[in-house]
Amino acid sequence: MTSTLAPFPAARPRRLRTSAAIRNLTRENELSVNDLIWPVFVRDGKGMEEPVQSMPGVLRRSVDKVVEAAIEAHALGIPALCLFPYTDPSLKTEDCAEAWNSDNLCNRAIRAIKAAVPELAIMTDVALDPYNINGHDGFVIDGEIRNDETVEALVKMTLAQAEAGADIIGPSDMMDGRVGAMRSALEARGFHNVKILSYSAKYASGFYGPFRDAVGASGALKGDKKTYQMDAGNSDEALRMIARDLREGADMVMIKPGLAYLDICHQVKRAYRVPTFAYQVSGEYAMIQAAAQNGWIDGEQVMLESLMAFRRAGCDGVLTYFAPQVARLLNG
Ligand code: PBG
Repeated sequence: MTSTLAPFPAARPRRLRTSAAIRNLTRENELSVNDLIWPVFVRDGKGMEEPVQSMPGVLRRSVDKVVEAAIEAHALGIPALCLFPYTDPSLKTEDCAEAWNSDNLCNRAIRAIKAAVPELAIMTDVALDPYNINGHDGFVIDGEIRNDETVEALVKMTLAQAEAGADIIGPSDMMDGRVGAMRSALEARGFHNVKILSYSAKYASGFYGPFRDAVGASGALKGDKKTYQMDAGNSDEALRMIARDLREGADMVMIKPGLAYLDICHQVKRAYRVPTFAYQVSGEYAMIQAAAQNGWIDGEQVMLESLMAFRRAGCDGVLTYFAPQVARLLNG
Protein backbone atom coordinates (compact mmCIF):
# COMPACT_ATOMS: atom_id res chain seq x y z
CA MET A 1 0.00 0.00 0.00
CA THR A 2 1.52 3.34 -1.05
CA SER A 3 0.21 6.76 -0.18
CA THR A 4 -0.80 9.06 -3.04
CA LEU A 5 0.20 12.64 -3.60
CA ALA A 6 -1.88 15.41 -5.15
CA PRO A 7 -0.43 16.73 -8.41
CA PHE A 8 2.06 19.59 -8.22
CA PRO A 9 1.70 22.32 -6.99
CA ALA A 10 -1.07 21.15 -4.65
CA ALA A 11 1.53 18.77 -3.34
CA ARG A 12 4.96 20.19 -2.66
CA PRO A 13 6.77 17.47 -0.70
CA ARG A 14 9.44 20.02 0.26
CA ARG A 15 6.85 21.75 2.52
CA LEU A 16 7.48 19.04 5.09
CA ARG A 17 11.22 19.62 4.97
CA THR A 18 11.26 23.38 5.53
CA SER A 19 12.25 23.47 9.20
CA ALA A 20 13.72 21.24 11.87
CA ALA A 21 10.43 21.44 13.78
CA ILE A 22 8.42 20.08 10.87
CA ARG A 23 11.05 17.49 9.97
CA ASN A 24 11.08 16.30 13.58
CA LEU A 25 7.31 16.17 13.62
CA THR A 26 7.02 14.06 10.48
CA ARG A 27 10.02 11.74 10.89
CA GLU A 28 8.91 8.11 10.57
CA ASN A 29 11.66 6.40 12.56
CA GLU A 30 13.66 7.38 15.62
CA LEU A 31 16.95 6.22 17.04
CA SER A 32 17.03 6.07 20.83
CA VAL A 33 19.50 4.92 23.48
CA ASN A 34 17.00 2.15 24.17
CA ASP A 35 17.94 0.61 20.82
CA LEU A 36 21.60 0.06 21.69
CA ILE A 37 23.57 -2.99 22.76
CA TRP A 38 27.23 -2.19 23.39
CA PRO A 39 29.80 -4.91 22.56
CA VAL A 40 32.77 -4.70 24.96
CA PHE A 41 36.12 -6.54 24.91
CA VAL A 42 37.45 -7.92 28.17
CA ARG A 43 41.06 -8.78 28.94
CA ASP A 44 43.12 -9.97 31.89
CA GLY A 45 44.79 -7.78 34.46
CA LYS A 46 43.90 -4.72 36.50
CA GLY A 47 43.53 -1.09 35.52
CA MET A 48 44.13 -2.02 31.88
CA GLU A 49 42.68 -0.22 28.88
CA GLU A 50 44.38 -1.22 25.68
CA PRO A 51 43.39 0.21 22.29
CA VAL A 52 42.40 -2.16 19.50
CA GLN A 53 44.48 -1.01 16.58
CA SER A 54 42.03 -1.76 13.79
CA MET A 55 39.08 -0.28 15.72
CA PRO A 56 39.94 3.33 16.64
CA GLY A 57 38.18 4.32 19.87
CA VAL A 58 37.63 0.71 21.00
CA LEU A 59 39.48 -0.69 24.02
CA ARG A 60 40.19 -4.04 25.59
CA ARG A 61 39.44 -3.51 29.26
CA SER A 62 40.37 -5.47 32.36
CA VAL A 63 37.41 -6.55 34.51
CA ASP A 64 37.64 -3.53 36.88
CA LYS A 65 37.60 -1.19 33.86
CA VAL A 66 34.71 -3.09 32.28
CA VAL A 67 32.77 -2.47 35.48
CA GLU A 68 33.50 1.27 35.18
CA ALA A 69 32.36 1.16 31.56
CA ALA A 70 29.19 -0.68 32.57
CA ILE A 71 28.38 1.95 35.20
CA GLU A 72 28.85 4.65 32.57
CA ALA A 73 26.73 2.76 30.02
CA HIS A 74 23.94 2.43 32.53
CA ALA A 75 24.13 6.13 33.40
CA LEU A 76 23.85 6.91 29.68
CA GLY A 77 20.68 4.82 29.45
CA ILE A 78 22.17 2.00 27.35
CA PRO A 79 20.07 -1.07 28.22
CA ALA A 80 22.56 -3.85 27.50
CA LEU A 81 26.20 -4.70 27.14
CA CYS A 82 27.62 -7.70 25.27
CA LEU A 83 30.89 -9.24 26.50
CA PHE A 84 33.71 -10.61 24.34
CA PRO A 85 36.77 -12.05 26.06
CA TYR A 86 40.32 -11.69 24.79
CA THR A 87 41.59 -15.01 26.04
CA ASP A 88 45.24 -15.50 26.91
CA PRO A 89 46.77 -17.75 24.20
CA SER A 90 47.98 -20.14 26.92
CA LEU A 91 44.33 -20.92 27.77
CA LYS A 92 43.41 -21.87 24.20
CA THR A 93 43.23 -25.62 23.69
CA GLU A 94 41.80 -28.16 21.29
CA ASP A 95 39.12 -29.20 23.82
CA CYS A 96 38.21 -25.53 24.57
CA ALA A 97 37.62 -26.35 28.25
CA GLU A 98 38.14 -22.72 29.26
CA ALA A 99 34.83 -21.93 27.52
CA TRP A 100 32.77 -23.48 30.33
CA ASN A 101 35.11 -22.66 33.20
CA SER A 102 32.80 -20.91 35.67
CA ASP A 103 35.71 -18.66 36.59
CA ASN A 104 36.83 -17.66 33.08
CA LEU A 105 37.30 -14.05 32.11
CA CYS A 106 33.81 -13.62 30.70
CA ASN A 107 32.07 -15.16 33.73
CA ARG A 108 34.19 -13.11 36.15
CA ALA A 109 33.20 -9.99 34.24
CA ILE A 110 29.49 -10.92 34.37
CA ARG A 111 29.63 -11.37 38.15
CA ALA A 112 31.54 -8.13 38.70
CA ILE A 113 29.15 -6.10 36.53
CA LYS A 114 26.07 -7.67 38.09
CA ALA A 115 27.41 -6.81 41.56
CA ALA A 116 27.92 -3.16 40.55
CA VAL A 117 24.99 -2.48 38.18
CA PRO A 118 22.40 -5.25 38.44
CA GLU A 119 19.90 -3.27 36.32
CA LEU A 120 22.12 -3.38 33.23
CA ALA A 121 21.34 -6.37 31.00
CA ILE A 122 24.35 -8.53 30.19
CA MET A 123 24.57 -10.43 26.95
CA THR A 124 27.18 -13.04 26.17
CA ASP A 125 28.52 -14.58 23.00
CA VAL A 126 28.37 -18.36 22.76
CA ALA A 127 30.92 -19.93 20.40
CA LEU A 128 34.21 -21.69 20.96
CA ASP A 129 36.48 -19.38 18.95
CA PRO A 130 37.94 -17.36 21.85
CA TYR A 131 39.05 -20.63 23.47
CA ASN A 132 39.91 -22.72 20.45
CA ILE A 133 43.54 -23.24 19.50
CA ASN A 134 42.54 -23.19 15.83
CA GLY A 135 40.23 -20.17 16.03
CA HIS A 136 37.05 -21.94 14.92
CA ASP A 137 33.61 -21.62 16.53
CA GLY A 138 33.32 -25.41 16.75
CA PHE A 139 35.52 -28.41 17.58
CA VAL A 140 37.81 -29.39 14.76
CA ILE A 141 38.19 -33.18 14.56
CA ASP A 142 40.11 -34.70 11.64
CA GLY A 143 39.94 -31.40 9.80
CA GLU A 144 36.15 -31.20 10.09
CA ILE A 145 34.14 -28.72 12.17
CA ARG A 146 31.96 -31.09 14.15
CA ASN A 147 28.40 -30.04 14.86
CA ASP A 148 26.95 -32.28 17.57
CA GLU A 149 30.03 -32.42 19.81
CA THR A 150 30.19 -28.61 19.58
CA VAL A 151 26.56 -28.20 20.59
CA GLU A 152 27.21 -30.21 23.78
CA ALA A 153 30.08 -27.88 24.64
CA LEU A 154 28.00 -24.79 23.86
CA VAL A 155 25.34 -25.99 26.28
CA LYS A 156 27.95 -26.25 29.06
CA MET A 157 29.19 -22.78 28.17
CA THR A 158 25.63 -21.40 28.24
CA LEU A 159 24.91 -22.83 31.67
CA ALA A 160 28.15 -21.42 33.10
CA GLN A 161 27.20 -17.97 31.78
CA ALA A 162 23.64 -18.24 33.09
CA GLU A 163 24.98 -19.25 36.51
CA ALA A 164 27.28 -16.22 36.46
CA GLY A 165 24.21 -14.03 35.91
CA ALA A 166 23.96 -13.45 32.16
CA ASP A 167 20.57 -12.10 31.10
CA ILE A 168 20.82 -12.76 27.37
CA ILE A 169 22.64 -15.66 25.73
CA GLY A 170 23.87 -14.97 22.20
CA PRO A 171 24.74 -18.12 20.26
CA SER A 172 27.02 -16.92 17.44
CA ASP A 173 28.42 -20.28 16.34
CA MET A 174 25.94 -21.27 13.58
CA MET A 175 25.91 -24.96 14.56
CA ASP A 176 22.64 -26.80 13.90
CA GLY A 177 20.38 -27.59 16.85
CA ARG A 178 22.14 -25.36 19.33
CA VAL A 179 19.24 -23.08 20.24
CA GLY A 180 16.96 -25.99 21.10
CA ALA A 181 19.68 -27.69 23.13
CA MET A 182 20.44 -24.49 25.04
CA ARG A 183 16.79 -23.76 25.68
CA SER A 184 16.02 -27.19 27.14
CA ALA A 185 19.16 -27.12 29.29
CA LEU A 186 18.24 -23.66 30.62
CA GLU A 187 14.68 -24.79 31.38
CA ALA A 188 15.88 -27.98 33.06
CA ARG A 189 18.21 -26.00 35.31
CA GLY A 190 15.56 -23.47 36.32
CA PHE A 191 16.82 -20.56 34.22
CA HIS A 192 13.32 -19.88 32.88
CA ASN A 193 13.90 -16.19 32.27
CA VAL A 194 17.30 -16.29 30.60
CA LYS A 195 16.77 -14.92 27.12
CA ILE A 196 18.27 -16.20 23.88
CA LEU A 197 19.13 -13.64 21.21
CA SER A 198 20.25 -15.92 18.44
CA TYR A 199 22.74 -14.90 15.80
CA SER A 200 20.33 -16.69 13.47
CA ALA A 201 21.42 -15.30 10.13
CA LYS A 202 25.15 -14.93 10.41
CA TYR A 203 27.10 -14.70 7.17
CA ALA A 204 30.67 -15.79 6.44
CA SER A 205 31.92 -12.24 6.13
CA GLY A 206 35.04 -10.22 5.50
CA PHE A 207 33.61 -7.56 7.79
CA TYR A 208 34.68 -9.50 10.92
CA GLY A 209 38.40 -8.88 10.35
CA PRO A 210 39.02 -6.23 13.03
CA PHE A 211 37.03 -8.22 15.61
CA ARG A 212 39.22 -11.27 15.19
CA ASP A 213 42.11 -8.91 15.87
CA ALA A 214 40.38 -7.57 18.97
CA VAL A 215 39.82 -11.02 20.51
CA GLY A 216 43.16 -12.35 19.29
CA ALA A 217 41.63 -15.00 17.02
CA SER A 218 43.02 -13.90 13.65
CA GLY A 219 46.41 -15.50 14.15
CA ALA A 220 44.87 -18.77 15.29
CA LEU A 221 42.22 -19.15 12.61
CA LYS A 222 43.04 -21.80 10.05
CA GLY A 223 40.89 -21.68 6.94
CA ASP A 224 37.53 -19.93 6.79
CA LYS A 225 34.10 -20.33 8.41
CA LYS A 226 32.13 -21.09 5.26
CA THR A 227 31.01 -24.58 6.32
CA TYR A 228 28.93 -23.10 9.13
CA GLN A 229 28.36 -19.39 8.50
CA MET A 230 26.03 -18.46 5.63
CA ASP A 231 26.81 -17.68 2.03
CA ALA A 232 26.43 -14.01 1.06
CA GLY A 233 24.27 -14.93 -1.91
CA ASN A 234 21.40 -16.30 0.16
CA SER A 235 18.29 -14.64 1.56
CA ASP A 236 15.61 -17.39 1.62
CA GLU A 237 18.01 -19.39 3.74
CA ALA A 238 18.17 -16.52 6.25
CA LEU A 239 14.40 -16.68 6.68
CA ARG A 240 14.59 -20.45 7.24
CA MET A 241 17.32 -19.98 9.86
CA ILE A 242 15.26 -17.36 11.68
CA ALA A 243 12.14 -19.57 11.62
CA ARG A 244 14.11 -22.53 12.90
CA ASP A 245 15.66 -20.63 15.82
CA LEU A 246 12.28 -19.22 16.83
CA ARG A 247 10.80 -22.73 16.81
CA GLU A 248 13.70 -23.93 18.97
CA GLY A 249 13.10 -21.26 21.60
CA ALA A 250 14.94 -18.07 20.62
CA ASP A 251 13.30 -14.95 22.09
CA MET A 252 15.03 -12.53 19.74
CA VAL A 253 16.94 -12.87 16.50
CA MET A 254 19.91 -11.20 14.88
CA ILE A 255 21.22 -10.55 11.40
CA LYS A 256 24.96 -10.12 11.05
CA PRO A 257 26.75 -8.17 9.53
CA GLY A 258 24.45 -5.17 9.37
CA LEU A 259 24.57 -2.62 6.58
CA ALA A 260 25.47 -5.04 3.80
CA TYR A 261 22.51 -7.22 4.87
CA LEU A 262 19.78 -4.60 5.44
CA ASP A 263 17.53 -6.38 2.95
CA ILE A 264 17.60 -9.41 5.24
CA CYS A 265 16.76 -7.28 8.30
CA HIS A 266 13.78 -5.85 6.45
CA GLN A 267 12.49 -9.23 5.26
CA VAL A 268 12.91 -10.83 8.67
CA LYS A 269 10.97 -8.13 10.50
CA ARG A 270 8.22 -8.22 7.85
CA ALA A 271 7.93 -11.99 7.93
CA TYR A 272 8.17 -12.77 11.65
CA ARG A 273 7.33 -9.61 13.64
CA VAL A 274 9.66 -10.63 16.47
CA PRO A 275 12.34 -8.57 18.23
CA THR A 276 14.95 -8.23 15.48
CA PHE A 277 18.51 -6.99 15.91
CA ALA A 278 21.38 -6.23 13.59
CA TYR A 279 25.05 -6.33 14.45
CA GLN A 280 26.97 -3.39 13.02
CA VAL A 281 30.19 -5.38 13.04
CA SER A 282 33.82 -4.45 13.52
CA GLY A 283 34.58 -3.92 9.82
CA GLU A 284 31.63 -1.57 9.42
CA TYR A 285 32.80 0.40 12.45
CA ALA A 286 36.41 0.44 11.23
CA MET A 287 35.44 1.73 7.77
CA ILE A 288 33.47 4.65 9.18
CA GLN A 289 36.20 5.52 11.70
CA ALA A 290 38.99 5.28 9.13
CA ALA A 291 37.23 7.55 6.64
CA ALA A 292 36.30 9.99 9.42
CA GLN A 293 39.89 10.10 10.70
CA ASN A 294 41.06 10.96 7.21
CA GLY A 295 38.53 13.77 7.02
CA TRP A 296 36.78 12.06 4.11
CA ILE A 297 33.37 11.85 5.78
CA ASP A 298 31.68 13.45 8.78
CA GLY A 299 32.03 10.55 11.21
CA GLU A 300 29.25 11.63 13.56
CA GLN A 301 26.74 12.14 10.77
CA VAL A 302 27.57 8.82 9.11
CA MET A 303 27.41 7.01 12.46
CA LEU A 304 23.89 8.32 13.12
CA GLU A 305 22.79 7.75 9.54
CA SER A 306 24.01 4.16 9.49
CA LEU A 307 22.21 3.42 12.77
CA MET A 308 19.00 5.05 11.56
CA ALA A 309 19.16 2.74 8.52
CA PHE A 310 18.72 -0.25 10.84
CA ARG A 311 15.67 1.32 12.44
CA ARG A 312 14.19 2.12 9.03
CA ALA A 313 14.79 -1.45 7.88
CA GLY A 314 12.72 -2.64 10.85
CA CYS A 315 15.31 -3.52 13.46
CA ASP A 316 14.32 -3.03 17.09
CA GLY A 317 17.92 -2.49 18.06
CA VAL A 318 21.56 -2.64 17.02
CA LEU A 319 24.75 -4.02 18.49
CA THR A 320 27.22 -1.24 17.83
CA TYR A 321 30.68 -0.23 19.01
CA PHE A 322 29.43 3.35 18.68
CA ALA A 323 26.91 2.83 21.53
CA PRO A 324 28.44 5.15 24.18
CA GLN A 325 29.25 7.82 21.61
CA VAL A 326 25.72 7.74 20.16
CA ALA A 327 24.18 7.70 23.63
CA ARG A 328 26.15 10.81 24.63
CA LEU A 329 25.04 12.54 21.45
CA LEU A 330 21.38 11.55 21.84
CA ASN A 331 21.41 12.63 25.48
CA GLY A 332 22.74 16.02 24.39
C1 PBG B 1 32.51 -15.25 17.16
C2 PBG B 1 32.05 -13.91 16.75
C3 PBG B 1 32.52 -13.12 15.69
C4 PBG B 1 31.88 -11.89 15.81
C5 PBG B 1 31.01 -11.97 16.90
N1 PBG B 1 31.12 -13.22 17.46
C6 PBG B 1 33.56 -13.38 14.67
C7 PBG B 1 33.44 -14.52 13.76
O1 PBG B 1 32.41 -15.17 13.62
O2 PBG B 1 34.47 -14.81 13.16
C8 PBG B 1 32.14 -10.71 14.92
C9 PBG B 1 31.79 -9.37 15.49
C10 PBG B 1 32.39 -8.22 14.78
O3 PBG B 1 33.03 -8.36 13.71
O4 PBG B 1 32.23 -7.10 15.27
N2 PBG B 1 31.76 -16.33 16.82
